[in-house]
Amino acid sequence: MCGIVGYAGRRDALPILLDGLKRLEYRGYDSAGVAIVGSALQVMKDKGFIANLEAQLPPLKGSTGFAHTRWATHGAPSKVNAHPHVDCTGKIALAHNGIIENYASLREKLQARGHTFVSQTDTESLVHLIESYYDGDLEAATRKALGDVRGSYAILAVHADEPGKVIGARNESPLVVGIGPDENFLASDVPALLRYTDRVAYVMDREMVVITPKGVTIKDLEGHVVQREPQRITWSLEDAEKGGFEHFMLKEIHEAPQAIHETLLGRLANLEVDGFLSEGVTSVKLVACGTSYHAALVGKYVIEEIARIPASAELASEYRYSQGATERPLVLLLSQSGETADTLGAAREAHRRGCKTLAICNVIGSSLSREVDKTIYTRAGIEIGVAATKTFIAQLVVLYLIALKLGQDRGTLGYDELDRLKDQLRSLPRAAQYVLNKADEIRSLAQKYGAEAKDMFYIGRHANYPVAMEGALKIKEISYIHAEAYAAGELKHGPLALLTPSTPVIAVVAQDPTYEKMRSNVGEVSARGSPVLAIGTEGDKELPKFVDDVFEIPSLPWIFSPVPVSVALQLFAYEAARIRNCPIDKPRNLAKSVTVE
Ligand code: M6R
Repeated sequence: MCGIVGYAGRRDALPILLDGLKRLEYRGYDSAGVAIVGSALQVMKDKGFIANLEAQLPPLKGSTGFAHTRWATHGAPSKVNAHPHVDCTGKIALAHNGIIENYASLREKLQARGHTFVSQTDTESLVHLIESYYDGDLEAATRKALGDVRGSYAILAVHADEPGKVIGARNESPLVVGIGPDENFLASDVPALLRYTDRVAYVMDREMVVITPKGVTIKDLEGHVVQREPQRITWSLEDAEKGGFEHFMLKEIHEAPQAIHETLLGRLANLEVDGFLSEGVTSVKLVACGTSYHAALVGKYVIEEIARIPASAELASEYRYSQGATERPLVLLLSQSGETADTLGAAREAHRRGCKTLAICNVIGSSLSREVDKTIYTRAGIEIGVAATKTFIAQLVVLYLIALKLGQDRGTLGYDELDRLKDQLRSLPRAAQYVLNKADEIRSLAQKYGAEAKDMFYIGRHANYPVAMEGALKIKEISYIHAEAYAAGELKHGPLALLTPSTPVIAVVAQDPTYEKMRSNVGEVSARGSPVLAIGTEGDKELPKFVDDVFEIPSLPWIFSPVPVSVALQLFAYEAARIRNCPIDKPRNLAKSVTVE
């Protein structure tokens, strides 16, 4: 995720662009840059926050241009990888949010034709491609170039010889037009524009837009003009930064489908997962903290189920104490931030033991990525809420990809089975969206079960046992309700003593091989008078007979059920915390990344 903002008008572009860009800093902040067209094209960029760029900017003159704040996906955060990227003539500048899937082959072809590349980014291929088509018309050249590109993008481009014009285009990354008198704007998100205009029009997938001081033209990629009525925005600036959602956490839960989609992009067809090699892997150890540890536990079940390789999960803070093993598993270290001290310590310990290490991380260039042999990045975009939500879902997606890759390379999965699993992975954004579409139902369930509760129990089995653990962690950290998670079979070994009619039990009863046993466990709970909310599967006619309420996830192969179940439990925790007036994005005593042991 990155932030882009463009301007074509009569005023000096620079202050407007910087002001807009600062309102998009939540979308990424590892580097920033601007391109202004005045008497010539002027480009400035640097690593670090926008303030760092601003401090070194000369007063660039010109009333057309764009700015970019980056959250790296390809190429480490650095000055050279920062946007804008410029073509060989130095006349075209481009900023991009998204991922160009086929950038490597484009780059190869363009280099063979003599283009010189200076960065490691996917974006640079596109600016050279536009250059190769340029014949005096930036709009036409951009349209042709986009015809050759696969992937997601919101782009802005300018040409030194076409002052007063900014070209934009969108596919699967957001782009909005702001309409003002004698000036027009483009941006990734409304907050960047709101100070200047409240009239906006949304650019849709596979559309291009040209802004000049005099007007806005939206066309499809074939060049046909599209009529789009502007809308008036009534949100305040603060509301707008959260995309109209009340909290960042809620916004981020709603970004799960996009996070899944981006994390899968370009990786499924040939199972090319950032150079991950399964050669010589005979067992896997997954190590992490907090929410990432729960993903690790799901990963253990998923890898064993799909790839038939022994896997175990361990808390990073405990890993160093489990001496004695002679085996050398592949050690997977999971961390959203890549800065968690316990996980960094575990990575060093794994190396000391002679193990190969692979990180699953959401932040490019993080400390963890420098400690390990390889890193696979989740592409969930920046996460601001302290409670991890969309990044947990993206971690699950990477774990499925790894399991498929291991299964393919070890021959435990046949072609047909592999294809079937790939198709099911592709359908996960829809499964997450299905749950999000029922947010109202979750709100009333949270009112019923979460408004007054002092204690709660979460139960599940197999891969949905760690999902229950994650559900309990979410409700603890943001609503302050005391919650315990148990493998459902364990209740009868002690915790049943704690169940009373005022202790709600949230039971994950997916249609998996443990279904019958889960139903018995739910029966044991109901018999003690505890109210039971089950997360079940669409069309399950039996389950409602055993529990008080059922929230249905869509019917999908059970191994993938942790994804929609987790989205439902995240929303449930959010709604319970909202009802209880808790400070959701900044819960007490917690920090987004924990850099002490
Ligand atoms: O950045 P990491 O994934 O390494 O962070 C690990 C935990 O600190 C983190 O998951 C924490 O548990 C979150 N607050 C959970 O919502």
